[in-house]
Order: sequence, then structure tokens, then C-alpha cells
Amino acid sequence: MLASNYPVDLAVKPDVKAFFDPATNTISYVVKDPSSNACAVVDSVMDIDYAAGRISYEHADEIIDFIQKSSLELEWLIETHVHADHLSGAPYIQQKLGGKLGIGNQITVVQETFGKVFNEGTEFQRDGSQFDRLFQDGDTYKIGNMTAFAIYTPGHTPACMVHVMGNAAFTGDTLFMPDGGSARADFPGGDAATLYDSIQKVLALPEELRLFMCHDYGPNGRDIQWETTVGDEKRHNIHVGGGKTREEFVKFRTDRDAQLDMPKLIIPSLQVNMRAGRLPPSDESGKTFLKVPVNSL
Ligand SMILES: [Fe+2]
Repeated sequence: MLASNYPVDLAVKPDVKAFFDPATNTISYVVKDPSSNACAVVDSVMDIDYAAGRISYEHADEIIDFIQKSSLELEWLIETHVHADHLSGAPYIQQKLGGKLGIGNQITVVQETFGKVFNEGTEFQRDGSQFDRLFQDGDTYKIGNMTAFAIYTPGHTPACMVHVMGNAAFTGDTLFMPDGGSARADFPGGDAATLYDSIQKVLALPEELRLFMCHDYGPNGRDIQWETTVGDEKRHNIHVGGGKTREEFVKFRTDRDAQLDMPKLIIPSLQVNMRAGRLPPSDESGKTFLKVPVNSL
């Protein structure tokens, strides 16, 4: 879809509350419709001490507490993509507060890929049915009276989407802050040229549109930040700004990705997030296990 065909409404200005998770450098958001008490949660986190095999919910509880204290109604839990660096806290929040859980419809491709990697049996559904809603490019939905919509932005992963809610857009890993550049494109199903094209879709949106990042690592020792604008990214993004060409980007991204280590939490993250943030089913003894596939990632 062309940028001009997306239903952007800059006059609607949602309240955006950010929750930074220092363990994974993830930023989760509560986005409130300015004209009602309805809200959405974007990219929540479930805590894990992987070395100890222990999960907990401090980060998610903080979000739940904020929503309850502000008397908000949770209508949507949005995952911008299947994260490889943190576990989603969405089902835990949904269980406490309700709301519908949504992700891009290409989740089925990710489920197919990692269903194989983790040798999941036929009981692992690869049709996205673990989610309440599978979005296609341009699909709209309501948060109270506010219209939100999804833009299909593959490249980092095959199921990535940017969600626009009023004058705020949640970029997932399609973009980082201008001095952070862009996310890697070397996971299975990722592709640097595709990522460049997806970023161009975001940069074609109105310059004043606020952009909220899913991650920030404070490059060059600066404080953690998560908010910028389309105009700022267009001019200053170190990987794609100032009119960098597709060829320049692909070369840079490919060389850089070849040097990166796997994210520390990729193995538990994928197993849980491909199930919409749920743990694998327990075995006959009632215990729950995560697998470590040897030499297959
Ligand atoms: Fe990611």
C-alpha cells in the first residue's frame, strides 16, 4: 500500500506511557485513546532468568498496575513481531485485564520455520490461531474512538508490522533511534533489501508523526531514548537517513550482521513468542521445559 493511502490522523494525539526493561533494553508502551479510557499495550515483556530457568512478571505487573491505577480499559495487546531477544508478557496481562492479542498474519511463516527448528509436533498449530487477530497490511482497528492501523514491514523478520495509533507509530524493530540505525536482518526469513523497502514505507509517512522504538541501547554512552519523528529519522538515521541507497544499506547491513552474536535470549524467546507468549505445554509430570536445539540456529 502507498503511504498516502494509510489512514493517518495527526489530529488524534494518544497519551503514550513507556516502560523500559533494562534486562533486555525493550520499551513497552501503554497507549491511551485521548477521548476515552481505552488503551492498548504494545510489546510487553515477561522476565526470565535463563540461567536459572525461572520466569517472573515484574515488568508486566508494572504495566498492569499502571492500567488499573489509571482506570483504563485494555482493548488490545499488540506484538509488532515475534521478538528474538525477550519473552512476551502479553498472555499474562491479557489474563488479568482482558483485551485482544494481535500480530501480523505472516506469523504463520515464523511458526513454520521455528516449528521445524524446535521439532514441535503436530499439536503446535502453525496457523496463527494462538492470537485473537492476524493483521494484514493496512488493516484498521479501534482503541476506544481512536483508529489504529498496521503497516506490513518485513525484513527484520517476515511478520514485522509498524502500528500507527493517531499521531504515534510503534516501529517494532523496523527502525531504531536515528543514532541507533536499524535492526539486524539475518534471522531466518529476514532480508536486508526487504528491510530497506519497509523502512522507506515508514519514512514516507507524515514528517510530524511521532515514532516510538521497541529497543534502545544508548549508543555512544547517551541516555536511553525511545521517541523521535519520521522527519528526524529521514534526515539523521545513520543507516538509512540522508537518502542512503538500497545498495549502500544492504552492503552495510549484511557486513554488520555477519559480526553479530545471537541474542542471549533467542532460544527461549522464539519458543515462547511463536506461541503468542505462552510456555510450551507441560509434560506428563506437569513440568514445563524449554528446548535447546543443537547446531540448528
Ligand atoms: Fe526483534
